[in-house]
Amino acid sequence: MQGLVAEGEETITQGAQKEPLAADLALIAAAQRVEHYEISAYGTARTLARQLGQMDCARLLSHTLGEEESTDFLLTAISDPLIQQAALDDVGANVNLGGMSRGERAQSARSRQSSDSGRSNSGKSDSGREAA
Ligand SMILES: [Fe+2]
Repeated sequence: MQGLVAEGEETITQGAQKEPLAADLALIAAAQRVEHYEISAYGTARTLARQLGQMDCARLLSHTLGEEESTDFLLTAISDPLIQQAALDDVGANVNLGGMSRGERAQSARSRQSSDSGRSNSGKSDSGREAA
C-alpha cells in the first residue's frame, strides 16, 4: 500500500507537467489501483472469515468490499467521458462531452503553468468538476 501511495504522490507531482486531461486520467488510474488492492485484501479476508466460521465478520467484510467495488465503478464512470474526449482530441475533433472544451483545457493548462502553485485557484479541477 505504501508503494501505491508513493505512486499516487508521484502521479500528482507529474500531473503539473501534463495536459490536464491526461493528468486527470492518470489520477483516476492511480486511485483505481488503490481500490483494486483494497478489493483484493477485503475479498481475501472475507474468504478467510468464512472458512473460520466467523460469519458476522464475513458479512462486515462483504459490506466493505461492496463499498470498494462501488468506488471503483464510480471512478470508471468518471473516466469514461474523459477517455472519449481524449480519443476525440487525438483525431482533432473539438467536442465537449460535459467537461471543459479543448480550448478551455488549453487555457487552463496555460494558467496552471504560469501560477506559482501549479494549480488554478478557481476551485474546479481541470476537467471542470468541483474539487472534492
Ligand atoms: Fe477504497
